[in-house]
Amino acid sequence: MRISRLDALEVLDSRGNPTVEVCLQLEDGSEGQALVPSGASTGMHEAAELRDGDPRRYGGKGVRKAVANVRGEMAAVLVGTDAGEQRALDGRLRELDGTPHKSRLGANAILAVSIAHARAVAASRRLPLYRHLGGDEATLLPVPCLNVINGGRHADNTLDFQEFAIVPHHAPSFAEAVRMGEEVSGSLRALLREHGLSTGVGDEGGFAPDLRSNEQAVEFILKAIHRAGYRPGSDVSLALDPATGEMWGSGRYRFFKSSGIERSSAAMIALWEDWVQRYPILMLEDPLSEHDWDGWTALSSRIGDQVELVGDDIFSTNADRLKRGILERVANAILIKPNQIGTVSETLDCAAQAKAAGYACCVSQRSGDTEDTFIADLAVALGCGQIKAGAGCRGERTAKFNRLLRIEHELGEWARFAGRAAFIR
Ligand code: PGA
Ligand code: ZN
Repeated sequence: MRISRLDALEVLDSRGNPTVEVCLQLEDGSEGQALVPSGASTGMHEAAELRDGDPRRYGGKGVRKAVANVRGEMAAVLVGTDAGEQRALDGRLRELDGTPHKSRLGANAILAVSIAHARAVAASRRLPLYRHLGGDEATLLPVPCLNVINGGRHADNTLDFQEFAIVPHHAPSFAEAVRMGEEVSGSLRALLREHGLSTGVGDEGGFAPDLRSNEQAVEFILKAIHRAGYRPGSDVSLALDPATGEMWGSGRYRFFKSSGIERSSAAMIALWEDWVQRYPILMLEDPLSEHDWDGWTALSSRIGDQVELVGDDIFSTNADRLKRGILERVANAILIKPNQIGTVSETLDCAAQAKAAGYACCVSQRSGDTEDTFIADLAVALGCGQIKAGAGCRGERTAKFNRLLRIEHELGEWARFAGRAAFIR
């Protein structure tokens, strides 16, 4: 089956920034489309997005060069050739790019082609994407981590920590978990209103109130869980992504939005030990910076048996970085973001490596996202049981939830819901 057409376009992401859309067609008429997301609190080891840098357009954020690379160089090499296996296609794309971080053609251009290829081949095989990528075993629906309070680089408020999420794990199905999550979210909205706080939302669809402290965000969420009729810890737990890489500088952590106070790595470790004791935290992501490997090792040995410690920036969905983490006993889980590495097969390989080492995987959105639902299918394909797709608010976030609701419906009695067992500890 040959690739008959490859086209690309500059479209918008959820922050109104340009991003790449690709359409790939096969000679039997099957078609695959893909739009790629973009982060704000990006790790320094991520694959490189290609932006035009022309200040006259979108403040330099245009992606016309990446689009031109798809329509020009990549189309010239791929159109007319056998679509082949995903791995072969991704290998060709990497070879054509020729740089370690995909900076020449742009990881945004490469990933869009890689995903569009996966979709076109799935369509040609008449298979849903999750089954094309994950096989007949792909029947496990993930537990959604709903990011109900946004802070850090994702909101203009007083919170240093980026994501305060709820995990409705005690549910019979994904649909019921979403219902529980939205009920808690509704209670939280009411509580914030009662306290005269803003219910406007941040980049990932969670509320973005000006609170007195990061702890107050946790307290509000625990109250909201109670008010919705659920038990914190037993029915609905917490997941935090403080994204501390954004707080790091000169070997210390600065609470840059609230107090301006700086803490050492040891003080941050003490803070997390205390929080994990006091609050029902199931998952803690990027509790320390990607530059603080020694801190990560210490923290992992101190509380790695009590909580799922997820490496986002420190691993950047990169199998080599994860390998080092496994050897040095850093974290016990990895965040999987396809655009951190730039192809579908490298994303699958990284998740497979994590699983083989006993690490949990959580598939994730980016803060600048689109209506593309690839990560929903990916989470089911991996059977990893965890997904971060924002709060059930803002279309680019609900697109993922709705895709998962459709997958669960389509699987019918074959569908299984991951529940708490998907998490480490
Ligand atoms: P980002 O945030 O997409 O802005 O990097 C998401 C995350 O840190 O998990
Ligand atoms: Zn993160």
